[in-house]
Amino acid sequence: MNNVAIFETHFANWFKTSNAFAFWKGRVAMYAILKALGIKGGDEIILPGYTCVMDVNPIKYLGAKPVYVDIEPSTFNINPALLESKITPKTKIIVAQHTYGYPCDMDAVMAIAAKRGIVVIEDCCLSFGSRYKGKTVGTFGKAAYFSFQWNKPFTTGLGGMAITNDDVLGERIEQICKSQLVQSSIKEKLMLAAQLAVYRMFIYPRTTALAQNIFRYLTKKGAVVGSSSAAEYNPQQMAADFFKGMSSIQARSGLWQLAKVESNIAHRRQMAEVYDKLLAEKGWPTRKYDKSVMDPVMVRYPVRIKEKAKALEDAATAGIELGSWFECPLHPIETPLEVYDYRIGMCPEAEKASQEVVNLPLHPRATKKTVRRTVEFITGFTPVID
Ligand SMILES: Cc1ncc(COP(=O)(O)O)c(C=O)c1O
Repeated sequence: MNNVAIFETHFANWFKTSNAFAFWKGRVAMYAILKALGIKGGDEIILPGYTCVMDVNPIKYLGAKPVYVDIEPSTFNINPALLESKITPKTKIIVAQHTYGYPCDMDAVMAIAAKRGIVVIEDCCLSFGSRYKGKTVGTFGKAAYFSFQWNKPFTTGLGGMAITNDDVLGERIEQICKSQLVQSSIKEKLMLAAQLAVYRMFIYPRTTALAQNIFRYLTKKGAVVGSSSAAEYNPQQMAADFFKGMSSIQARSGLWQLAKVESNIAHRRQMAEVYDKLLAEKGWPTRKYDKSVMDPVMVRYPVRIKEKAKALEDAATAGIELGSWFECPLHPIETPLEVYDYRIGMCPEAEKASQEVVNLPLHPRATKKTVRRTVEFITGFTPVID
């Protein structure tokens, strides 16, 4: 078996599912699922209005229409109370995105979907190992997809995976891959391998802001394999090589990351608790979720502040790793929202969150010292108190 097949098998085993398919990116995994489910022009797909625009492209590429539902403000996940009114006879899929690692209210989402005969798929790009009522997210819906891009629960540079326990759907994904999947070029593979090496050697919480700026500059110049190209902000045109498989370099890195994932998860849980404690000591709001049903493994720790732009600017000079997704309902800020059928005012809570939320590091390189420095820094601003 090659590295990609081995990674797929190990990944499927971790989730105790029967099928896993590895791709170049998470968005490609989503596309494969939608295509295998037969999504076509005129279909409607419901998703939260607080996501990455790259999650909307696969919907548009297939001619379907994204329908946005506002979020529930404490978990940033789709608000089930608003979900049902968005369902029409054309609704085919609800995308349950587990934002920042908080599980969606899966009882409510699954019940509404079952009642209306709609398929649920899970966007696990921001959550690996979170549980809802003891069940791991990614195993509730018909299928789920994951991202291994730089900021995700674990990284292979770029990368994605689709899983499903439905063997008929698995068979269809396999057939589509056999006939349509393209491979990355040698140049792309070499660039990604070099980037992974640089990342392992140099990217630490204090250097992240500087590295991000250099990375964005080099992406524009075409000198590195960026997460998204300029062409990807035009959903009218799917790139000829969009439907791309995972390379062996990514799979090798994924296997290595998966072998360490339990300690990654334990670290994230522990650091999130340290944030809870230190923020509470400063009188700041901490994570708010129903502990009797949710057991989140956070990818980042979200906090709401009044001076987001200033905090991001100061963080870069202070060597503090502050994340800023999502910057608008369809991240990033450059997204032409109307092209993606989003109109300002559609999801007021998501728009408010975009203005207020910054996220703090929890990854394995963020130590207790990082957390203390980050809390010292962020509490210099004004918290948003609900
Ligand atoms: C919630 C969410 N879904 C999907 C994606 C797409 O993942 P990828 O960048 O691997 O295509 C992202 C990307 O950042 C994301 O944040």
